Amino acid sequence: MCGIVGYIGEAQAAPILLDGLSKLEYRGYDSAGIAVYDGEEIRVQKATGRLKALSELTHDGATMPGVSGIGHTRWATHGAPSNVNAHPHYNQDKTIAVVHNGIIENYMKLRKYLEGKGCQFVSETDTEVVAHLLARYYKGDPLEAVTKAMHRMEGSYALGIIFKDHADKVYAVRKDSPMIVGHGKDGNLIASDVPAVLKYTRKVYFIQNEEIAALTKEGITFFNVDGDEIAKEPTTIDWDVNAAEKGGYEHFMLKEMYEQPQTVKDTLNPRIRDGEVVIEELGMEDGEICAVNRIHIVACGSAYHAGVTAKYVFEGLARVPVEVDLASEFRYRNPILQQDDLVIIISQSGETADSLAALREAKARGIKTLGIVNVVGSSIAREADRVMYTWAGPEIAVATTKAYSAQLIAEYLLAIKFAQARNTVSAQEVEGLLRDLQKLPEQIEMLLGNKGRIQHFANRYIAAKDVFFVGRGIDYAISMEGSLKLKEISYIHSEAYAAGELKHGTISLIEEGTLVAAVVTQEELYKKTISNIVELRSRGAFVLAVTNTGNREIEKAADYVIYIPQTNWYFTNSLAIIPLQLFSYYVSVGKGCDVDKPRNLAKSVTVE
Ligand code: G6P
Repeated sequence: MCGIVGYIGEAQAAPILLDGLSKLEYRGYDSAGIAVYDGEEIRVQKATGRLKALSELTHDGATMPGVSGIGHTRWATHGAPSNVNAHPHYNQDKTIAVVHNGIIENYMKLRKYLEGKGCQFVSETDTEVVAHLLARYYKGDPLEAVTKAMHRMEGSYALGIIFKDHADKVYAVRKDSPMIVGHGKDGNLIASDVPAVLKYTRKVYFIQNEEIAALTKEGITFFNVDGDEIAKEPTTIDWDVNAAEKGGYEHFMLKEMYEQPQTVKDTLNPRIRDGEVVIEELGMEDGEICAVNRIHIVACGSAYHAGVTAKYVFEGLARVPVEVDLASEFRYRNPILQQDDLVIIISQSGETADSLAALREAKARGIKTLGIVNVVGSSIAREADRVMYTWAGPEIAVATTKAYSAQLIAEYLLAIKFAQARNTVSAQEVEGLLRDLQKLPEQIEMLLGNKGRIQHFANRYIAAKDVFFVGRGIDYAISMEGSLKLKEISYIHSEAYAAGELKHGTISLIEEGTLVAAVVTQEELYKKTISNIVELRSRGAFVLAVTNTGNREIEKAADYVIYIPQTNWYFTNSLAIIPLQLFSYYVSVGKGCDVDKPRNLAKSVTVE
């Protein structure tokens, strides 16, 4: 999500930190800061907005002398983008400075504990607890403080740390958030991604989970979480800078697809506590949730497709009626909105013009609004009465993948929360739902691991003219997103149809060899969709089926089958979409299209 850089060596640190941060710009950010030890104290400078503001403030680093320091570009998760929330963060007496990527899931608990011990917090961030926690455990040995703090922190973190009393060292820590160490000629560096260090060195160490690196001017020592020294082999980076920004992936879209297990974890894990769904920022009491009479979900593009899935999940679990609208339609159709309705706007960017206009329309009518948004501090996030963030991090590829996956997770959690408040599910059911949700990251990872088979299949359809995606219920919603992915990045005409609707017109378009992707994950509807598959095949269609493991029946009907692992039927979208994303991606690559920047499209559509 955010970018981290650290340096210790012969040269001035600040210009190197700023330069390294500029190489992480593609990660997106809303504020930046650096901390440098000037021989007497740790000095911090921060600026909101683009990195340029920080460069100007520090005269390209000239006003911050010193040979060791850490820097950060922030992509806000906890707390709005602001100077006070920007990193680095200090402990109370400013003897420790910390930069952080990831999410400290138990930060509320830790904050309460530390406040109880007299710590005064200045920011809303989860990161600030790290600085205070380190100070609490610091008794003269930084390594001891770091390892003790690691035992207390839950969640994901990559940390860069400097201690005033040990300014000859920079520390790096990693758990479930990337961090590398670069071994340069005139000094050593830490960074959350390789491009930040490439100008200075190509000799890099990859820090693994729960490992610590202590850098001095001359050398680097690695430790495990128990503080025992460990040996590490460096890797020589031979990618060019462009490739490095993509972390070695050929395209941002592929990189972002591979980030989905982590994205799902980040959006999910902090919101499950002791068997309960906790959505702190939602700020809706159970009574308020029970009073909701009808939900209107309004969005554009993939976010709309996520909304179509949400209808099934909300109605099924929480028994609350849901209407789903395209924002561009909603705003002009004079929708019937009643006092106890809730309007949910789903948006990755939080800036989509139609979605924002729909939000304003609902607010103008005095209806409660909730945004499910990825970009913290964006217009929709700011203007909605309440906001629930998806923690997908910046998404660069125009075709959304990880942000869509995170939207699904946010909806599942919200639906379970509503169901619990409205008493429409038993405690036992909730337990099962949460268990299945927590298995999703691993299952997604497994599906991504099978990319070879999908790539092989996709290569056969590079020249396809029309592709149809069909399914019933949630499978129809999945088909819509699968179809959009294909057409937006490969320029192949594709359509999604409710499988039961095919006979009312679309089946006339089926010719010998037409590819139909049938999504068949809803057990109750297996038989119905299989009948449709048989009808399609008898008209010449080649049918690719995406179905649950165990549905062997389908092999008799479809030509090619991709299995997804078993999960609760409400959550199958999160798994079935993975092979469809991979399929679109490989068709696009095979055709030589500009995968990350497809023609005529924009990532954030800020005009009607
Ligand atoms: C554009 C993007 C889509 C996205 C849609 C809605 O069309 O290419 O990926 O789904 O806008 O964007 P939002 O930022 O509101 O989710």
